[in-house]
Amino acid sequence: MINYEEPGLWLLATPSSAYVVRLGPDGAPRCAHWGPRLTPDQARALPPGREELPGEGGERFGVAGLQVRYGDAVRGVEWRHLDHEIDPGGDGAAGHLVIRMADRHYPLEIDLHYRVRPGSDAIDRWTTLRNTGDEPITILRCDSAAWTVPQREDYRLTHVTGGWGAEFQVRRTALATAETVLTSRRGHSGHHANPWVMLDAGDATEDHGEVWSAALAWSGSWRITVERDHDGRAGWSGGFGHEGVTWRLGPGEALETPAFSGVYSAEGFGGISHRWHDHVRRHVLPEPRRVRPVVFNSWEATEFDISQAQQMELAELAAGIGVELFVMDDGWFGGRTGETAGLGDWWPNPERFPDGLTPLVEHVKRLGMAFGLWVEPESVNPDSELYRTHPEWVLRQPNRHPTEVRNQLLLDFSRDDVADWAYDRLDELVTGDDIAFLKWDMNRPFTEAGDEVWVPYIRNVYAVIDRLRAAHPHLMIEGCASGGGRADLGMIARTDQIWTSDDTDAAQRIAIQHGYGQIYPACTMGAWVTDSPNAITGGRTPLAFRFHVAMAGALGIGGDLRRWGPEDLEQAKHLVARYKEIRPVVHGGRMDRLADWAVQYTLDADVVVLSWRPTMLVRATAPLRLRGLDPDGRYRDEDTGEICHGALLMSHGLPRPWPFEGVSELKRFTRVG
Ligand code: GLA
Repeated sequence: MINYEEPGLWLLATPSSAYVVRLGPDGAPRCAHWGPRLTPDQARALPPGREELPGEGGERFGVAGLQVRYGDAVRGVEWRHLDHEIDPGGDGAAGHLVIRMADRHYPLEIDLHYRVRPGSDAIDRWTTLRNTGDEPITILRCDSAAWTVPQREDYRLTHVTGGWGAEFQVRRTALATAETVLTSRRGHSGHHANPWVMLDAGDATEDHGEVWSAALAWSGSWRITVERDHDGRAGWSGGFGHEGVTWRLGPGEALETPAFSGVYSAEGFGGISHRWHDHVRRHVLPEPRRVRPVVFNSWEATEFDISQAQQMELAELAAGIGVELFVMDDGWFGGRTGETAGLGDWWPNPERFPDGLTPLVEHVKRLGMAFGLWVEPESVNPDSELYRTHPEWVLRQPNRHPTEVRNQLLLDFSRDDVADWAYDRLDELVTGDDIAFLKWDMNRPFTEAGDEVWVPYIRNVYAVIDRLRAAHPHLMIEGCASGGGRADLGMIARTDQIWTSDDTDAAQRIAIQHGYGQIYPACTMGAWVTDSPNAITGGRTPLAFRFHVAMAGALGIGGDLRRWGPEDLEQAKHLVARYKEIRPVVHGGRMDRLADWAVQYTLDADVVVLSWRPTMLVRATAPLRLRGLDPDGRYRDEDTGEICHGALLMSHGLPRPWPFEGVSELKRFTRVG
């Protein structure tokens, strides 16, 4: 719900938070409140605070979320409020507010957008710039929004860092009195960072205390600058692009930024995650209610060394343990028998699949599974038919050496002809063999990209995926960039799940999943059970442990089933069946992190607890106390039939007398009274 309370004052209300915007005496919209719900009377009593999108000019010396240069080399903005447009929304409808501003002198208009959605605590904010003059304006920076948190004695920053095979490592550190830049300059959202941020006053815990957060819906380069100034105020400004990338806004043109959504919670980091998960499932995912099938993916089992007969054998074994979707990963097309050739040639390798993919697809379908394929549409190997035909399609700059990463170059997706080609090839592929699932990979960052590439490239990736989904409503898409290099709200808005990391070692995966789940819900978190010892780390874990870790997301199988003995296959079949029972709770329920090594999912009367002891360093001796149950309720332990009191499960918890590492447990409770 959004209301215009009095001239220059807007009150946005979500189920458990409020946001107040007030025009300052200088004409700039300012944040007066971001926190608990307020009445209109209380909102009216608030003075304007920090700017909603600070520019350059005047006595502004902090982070400039808006930097422009006009034709006469003058920089900055001086605001003039034009008007606003408001659709208040309300129960079951989205509210949308646009505050329209213009520069006092130059022909630049700016719209600040605010949107709230039914049942969600997220406030979406974005910006549109319009050049209403007849000379180009250079945009040096245009953030989606600046977010201000109320003044506190101290602040703590939470974010994730990492690398390939080690994504989403949560870091929680004191916020320096300085500018802290979280960014990706890579053209994808990144393994080393992820476009979200949280601040608290240093006092929040998993289930108590105030936390402010924001996440950007953008899959390319981005920058979030968190600022704590010498007067003790804090906030951040963020948006697409990284420093130094500029944009020419021609006469009559507009630039719209992606949404940078904010969520406040007074219920700690767990409360923040609940709100993000709900928001993503209700308002971001294109098909939130679609059942995420149990996937088999061939990558770790076979890598590039694939054949039709071998894939058929794997499909039989996968079907035997209850897999629902069989995905053939890299190595099926063109001359792609290794990393050096074939990317770009999206037709079945004629030696490996002399009769095309149809015999394999039919085989998979006869086994009762759907069929999916790995693709990497944005890349090309110089050794490919595509590159030989269209060397001019590659992202490069004159007089600069085109950098190869993993022996590949990027196609310049900012070109519409390249995007059209990609759409046509994928459309043909999906139509021809009735493909149910694409794993859309992107295995290298941008290099040699000019100013004008960074944004239209990502927009065209989005457009191709959107067109494919529209033409093939049943198609599922998994987003991937060498694991979790492009996991963000922009990608999640047009895919069904994300490949979280190439590190499938269950013991290490727990921390990766812990970080991923801070913002993104379990139904989007691709998680495979692979072989032991693990292909990347050499780590050994029992099969049940691997399953119990992967069951916390969208379960897949990525091991070489030909090497699993009959006992392993039997146990796997049993665990896949168990997973299918708990899947609605894991994917649709509220997730509580009981510890770094245990999660609980609760949906109506059903409660699922997954816990793990990955190493001896995890002292798994203290009881695991459940969360969010009805203290007066009685819950049946689905394995023992024992009836437990909700109050005791929460205060005394489940015993954990686990002597060794590699132990894990799946517990289910049903409320019976
Ligand atoms: C990336 C992905 C892997 C696999 C390979 C194939 O690294 O993250 O899962 O698909 O590419 O080349």
